[in-house]
Amino acid sequence: MTGAQYTLRLRQRLPALLPLLALLLLPLALTQSVSQNCTNLSAPLYERERCVRESILCPGATSAPFYDKHVSPTVEYMQPVNVSMLLQVWQINELSVQDSQMELAAWTTFEWIDERLAFNETESGVVATTAFASLDPEHSEIWVPPVYLLNRKSAESGLQASATKDAVIFPNGKVSWRNQHNLGLLCVFEGLKAIPFDKLTGHLMFGTWTRPDFVVNLTFAPRGAPGREGLVFGFDDELEPNMFREYSIKMDECETYTDTIFDKNLGITYPILMYQIVVTRSKNFYLVKIVVPNIILTYLSFGIFLLDVRCGERLGYGITLLLAMFAVDITASALLPISDAWLWINVLIGVSTCFAVMALVESILVLWLYYKYKTDEDAVSPFIDIAKPARMVFNAADNAFDNPSAPPQEEEFHDAHEVHSKEAAARRKRTARQQYLHERNLEERYVAMGMRLDFFALILFLLFYSVFVLVMFLTASSWD
Ligand SMILES: *[C@@H]1O[C@H](CO)[C@@H](O)[C@H](O)[C@H]1NC(C)=O
Ligand SMILES: *[C@@H]1O[C@H](CO)[C@@H](O)[C@H](O)[C@H]1NC(C)=O
Ligand SMILES: *[C@@H]1O[C@H](CO)[C@@H](O)[C@H](O)[C@H]1NC(C)=O
Ligand SMILES: *[C@@H]1O[C@H](CO)[C@@H](O)[C@H](O)[C@H]1NC(C)=O
Ligand SMILES: *[C@@H]1O[C@H](CO)[C@@H](O)[C@H](O)[C@H]1NC(C)=O
Repeated sequence: MTGAQYTLRLRQRLPALLPLLALLLLPLALTQSVSQNCTNLSAPLYERERCVRESILCPGATSAPFYDKHVSPTVEYMQPVNVSMLLQVWQINELSVQDSQMELAAWTTFEWIDERLAFNETESGVVATTAFASLDPEHSEIWVPPVYLLNRKSAESGLQASATKDAVIFPNGKVSWRNQHNLGLLCVFEGLKAIPFDKLTGHLMFGTWTRPDFVVNLTFAPRGAPGREGLVFGFDDELEPNMFREYSIKMDECETYTDTIFDKNLGITYPILMYQIVVTRSKNFYLVKIVVPNIILTYLSFGIFLLDVRCGERLGYGITLLLAMFAVDITASALLPISDAWLWINVLIGVSTCFAVMALVESILVLWLYYKYKTDEDAVSPFIDIAKPARMVFNAADNAFDNPSAPPQEEEFHDAHEVHSKEAAARRKRTARQQYLHERNLEERYVAMGMRLDFFALILFLLFYSVFVLVMFLTASSWD
């Protein structure tokens, strides 16, 4: 093929190549008009902002270098990009002591500087623009710090699921990214033992997952009261405690501090931000529903000592009260965590039940003593009224004594015999009366003994239980 032939063929094919050529030149032409609109202050703002967004985010359309959202905007190792974090807590949605979990309605705000996103404000007249940001790089338009809630409850309750808002980009490359979350966390609650006087302490741990501390420096935003920088309640600590919720946040006892996790395998340290949230319980509910009923029932169970042994109510009364206490205990169990720890309320309920059981045992002892005397006297089963035969003998004798004029049953007895039988009747009557009196004495003695025992028990139980309750309430706040 000669040179002329080649030129000819090229000329023939030129019309076919033209669209291709145009396609190649188009980006160049676009760049030209884009940069025109970027710097042309009389162009509409939306055109200028679109142009700015294109110039910082969209590769290919401008001469700006390709923006890789996987790469952090760190300029030098050991000069990490400073990422500040602000946590705004709105309320406690849920707190489960049984499951050691808590859910907070909160906002997070991350701020950092990404030089690659800087644009010229004076040239474009654009004050700020936005870009979609997400912890999922697939969907994010820009790099975001890979910060996660490390002690999240489930995938839905961490930062990632709800970090789906636009970030604001300022001309100097500063990015501000705010999100709303329902943060579900796994907590190791401290101070639980003093239920219901407890102050529960839970921690939120935010840390970077992939970027070590020499690439990303995680810090607290300079907001919030001293000692808890980076944590505010509501917009500006103005959150009103909700009267009708079981748990409320103790703002002035919350703290924040930084920490690190050292990965031994990689020899890398990851920064961590710790938020300590202190929560108090509305204790009146527990006092009214569990503690006070339990104490009242225990005091009532001491009433068993005031009931006469001979009155059959004694055991029934004691056992009914014990059952009522168990009912209160069942109510309490539903609200308390199951653990090996000695909870204040469990100790109170347990010891109160012990007192009630001991009162019952004392009562059984007194009853046993009372019936034992009868068994001893007549060696009959204590379940039969053994006083009856003696009483019958006495009654018979009494009748004989009261009716001396009653006609003798056998007329043919002579006087000596009559006198003799009269004397014998009087004797029988005397011994029967003595026996009866003796038994009455014994019974009264046993009853008196039982009453004395009851009286001492009442004093002792009242004293010891009152001291116990007093000590429990005095030590409630320092229970641990
Ligand atoms: C620049 O702005 C003008 C005026 O709004 C518009 O007609 C033109 O299409 C814009 N340039 C580009 C590349 O969009
Ligand atoms: C600037 O924009 C205005 C309005 O779109 C347009 O009339 C003007 O020609 C543009 N100037 C340049 C230099 O592109
Ligand atoms: C991060 O903050 C520290 C302290 O404020 C500062 O010395 C350092 O220069 C900052 N790093 C960057 C990359 O701006
Ligand atoms: C922004 O553009 C103006 C005008 O072109 C220029 O004078 C200025 O130095 C630029 N600023 C920056 C930060 O690049
Ligand atoms: C990280 O930021 C904090 C606060 O801005 C600063 O005091 C500290 O020096 C920074 N650490 C590094 C390694 O830059």
